[in-house]
Amino acid sequence: MNVGIIGSGTMGSGIAQVAATSGCKVKLYDTNTTALDKAKSALDKILNRLIEKGRLDEKEKNRIQSNIEFVNSLNNLSDADLTIEAIVENLEIKKQVFLELEGYVSDDCIIASNTSSLSIASIAASLQKPDRCIGIHFFNPAPLMELVEVIPAIQTSKVTLDKSVQIIKDWKKTVAVAKDTPGFIVNRVARPFYGESLRIYEEGIADFATIDWSLKTLGGFRMGPFELMDFIGNDVNYTVTETVFTAFYFDPRYKPAFTQKRFAEAGYLGRKSGKGYYDYSEGMSKPNPKEDKELAENVFNRVLIMLINEAADALFLNIASAEDIDNAMTKGVNYPKGLLAWADEKGIDWCVRKMDELYNEYHEDRYRCSPLLRKMNKENKTFF
Ligand code: NAI
Repeated sequence: MNVGIIGSGTMGSGIAQVAATSGCKVKLYDTNTTALDKAKSALDKILNRLIEKGRLDEKEKNRIQSNIEFVNSLNNLSDADLTIEAIVENLEIKKQVFLELEGYVSDDCIIASNTSSLSIASIAASLQKPDRCIGIHFFNPAPLMELVEVIPAIQTSKVTLDKSVQIIKDWKKTVAVAKDTPGFIVNRVARPFYGESLRIYEEGIADFATIDWSLKTLGGFRMGPFELMDFIGNDVNYTVTETVFTAFYFDPRYKPAFTQKRFAEAGYLGRKSGKGYYDYSEGMSKPNPKEDKELAENVFNRVLIMLINEAADALFLNIASAEDIDNAMTKGVNYPKGLLAWADEKGIDWCVRKMDELYNEYHEDRYRCSPLLRKMNKENKTFF
């Protein structure tokens, strides 16, 4: 199978590695030859590291490398069966590239985008044959993250969807099919992990270290929300929240926090700038959390119920199936459990009660309970 990848940055080069490892013939295209050289040497380094760890041998490395050709002309992709675009997140630039690409490839070539925030419908609209367009959304780093969201636009044909799902499964990834709505599954359902934690901090209920500690010890999350925001970068994480908030016509559930905005404005971006919610300079250690069990339970339960409510609402609005929503969160962002399975474990009546407690306290639309949870509670149903 011939695969064309457009854009050899972080995502494009990772996706190229995944496809080449699975035996596809990959052409990795970029307008910037420096970016192509960088991708080539980065891949060499990654494969050498895998050899050192004993996960790969020299022969396998050569096989993967010989499957990737680095090209700087778009018409080199003319024999592709599938192309995945991973260039700058700008609709006008993506549209221009797709328009040109369609002039080179065959009629049945699938044209996919790895966009995180643009609608697939808007990208598909730039094509002569929009039914061949689809979202194929990898997570960073693509070779390590098991999840791939596949997003058909309203124009996408069933053939394009079925073929795309099969290809990604053949690449040994877990597929979650999502509706073409802002944030797809993961970037929508994960918002309260950051947003509610920031709100708890802003209300003065607990500090960063205590919130992180509560979610790690009681919830089993690998990283606390503030550690994770520092890892992702406060600028990047803030922008995703703001984009989702705007795209949802300012639904208060996704409202960004001033705390994070100020951190981003101040250049306290997290690990990459040496300072975020924590100080990463040499010799600095993290402040100790307040190890108060009751406080930790309040913090953990509040973030968890907001996550569960978001996952339930995504199911209510048919964004994806219950299985795909749970897979997306465990395999896309390494949550310790699927949120809907977690809801079953806690009890649907507990979920409704917790949401109603928050709503009664704040009278904010942000804390409205998903109608699905309420209905399931009445009917004594569970998700699985
Ligand atoms: P990046 O900045 O690392 O790489 C983009 C590459 O595209 C650069 O090498 C650039 O030279 C090239 N490029 C720009 N315009 C081009 C054009 N007209 N033709 C050909 N090449 C062009 O960006 P990154 O992070 O890899 O993101 C790419 C896409 O993937 C974006 O749509 C982004 O939203 C999405 N994405 C990013 C994730 C991340 O964590 N970085 C995760 C999932 C999706």
